[in-house]
Amino acid sequence: MPKRVFAPPEDGFPKRSRMDKFVIRGGAPLRGEIAVNGAKNSALPALAACLLTEEPVILHRIPDVRDIVTMETLLRSTGANVEVDGHTIRVEAREVVRPEAPYELVKTMRASSLVLGPLVARTGRARVSLPGGCAIGARPINLHLAGLEQLGARIRQEHGYIEAETPNGLHGALITFDRITVTGTEDLLMAAVLAEGETVIENAAQEPEVADLAELLTKMGAQIEGAGTSTIRVRGVPRLHGAEHTIIPDRIEAGTFLIAGAITRGDLLVTRCVPEHLSALISKLRQAGVRIEETGPDSLRVCAPGKLRSIDVTTEEYPGFATDLQAQYMALMTQAQGISLITETIFENRFMHALELMRMGANIRLEGRQAIVAGPSQLTGAAVIASDLRASASLVLAALVASGETVIDRVYHIDRGYEKIEERLQQVGASIRRIR
Ligand code: EPU
Repeated sequence: MPKRVFAPPEDGFPKRSRMDKFVIRGGAPLRGEIAVNGAKNSALPALAACLLTEEPVILHRIPDVRDIVTMETLLRSTGANVEVDGHTIRVEAREVVRPEAPYELVKTMRASSLVLGPLVARTGRARVSLPGGCAIGARPINLHLAGLEQLGARIRQEHGYIEAETPNGLHGALITFDRITVTGTEDLLMAAVLAEGETVIENAAQEPEVADLAELLTKMGAQIEGAGTSTIRVRGVPRLHGAEHTIIPDRIEAGTFLIAGAITRGDLLVTRCVPEHLSALISKLRQAGVRIEETGPDSLRVCAPGKLRSIDVTTEEYPGFATDLQAQYMALMTQAQGISLITETIFENRFMHALELMRMGANIRLEGRQAIVAGPSQLTGAAVIASDLRASASLVLAALVASGETVIDRVYHIDRGYEKIEERLQQVGASIRRIR
């Protein structure tokens, strides 16, 4: 069985630790081929969906990242049997003995709330810790709760926990989201598949991860139409069965690699991706002067031989420009000629990376939800701190073009979502190493 990075340590020290830092020496253009892993944000709901059946579910292409390990721990704590073999995970939730997501797990990963819908649907009750504050915004789960109430759940909040129960089972309903929520759509979809009658979810998230979850649920026997569009229709079934499914490629990881190729003026082939999932980013990169070529159905070649131009961007729900690529795009814009206006509409506080980029010499002004980036700037290596997952990716990208050495602290954030990122970047020519 291949060893997992986050497997319990034999020598008493995990191979990845909270104390780790990256030391990066900038200047090397990235060249060669880099393959994209399975999507973390697809794998998380897929793992939660395993709670919906007592039969085994086998999931392939699960990335070996810290958030996945947290979800595995969560599933085990409910009583499920979880077996990991490299990138394949087999979950058998024969009995759910503890329908709960404890604070210790939810505080390290907000997506733990994804088990709420499946637990309520499967067992008629759930106890899920309320997530606390987050580095990128308030991120409440009020829309998940309102939707579950519409499906017939009774919800109370006590001692920092959501207590949900369904005295009369779940029944179909028309749910119209006030605003688009990705995990909210997934949570309710997982509850609706076992509810009695028809559920219609309007203003649903259209992200490919929602469609991927629906594909898995359909293989498990669910009846779903319209996943991947803004209206999803579900006809509830009494039970679901086991299934086998391969997770889609991670579009955010693919996008990060495209920007890495562009910012280092390299020549990178990004393989095992879905170009269609990256349309908004590709369009912005092309406008900025980056050359991107579809070399096959699942591969993109990126290079940026000429000057980069500053291009404005506004984050939006899919198919718009992903908020999860905003930080990385900002790093790129520090190297582009002119002024670029970056507007963040999804999260209220997702500019923490800007302050660190400024410490590296970037010329950025923050005005509420907008960042005004004037480029190009010669970035210089500095000691910087990663504040969240995508902010860390942005700092790695900036460090790859900075003169001298950058030391990035708190890279445990990047380990939440990118598997062995330093090893994979080394293989395409980056000077990056992990230290304690
Ligand atoms: N919102 C509410 N109430 C709710 C739910 C959401 O007000 O009940 C607000 C949020 O505060 C936010 C907006 O709605 O302002 C959109 O949030 P959404 O619920 O869509 O975000 P999420 O489901 O919590 C997922 C991804 C995030 C990604 C966002 C937006 C997973 C596990 N997480 O979060 O990924 O940024 O969608 O696309 O799918 C990441 O991978 O780094 C990451 C943060």
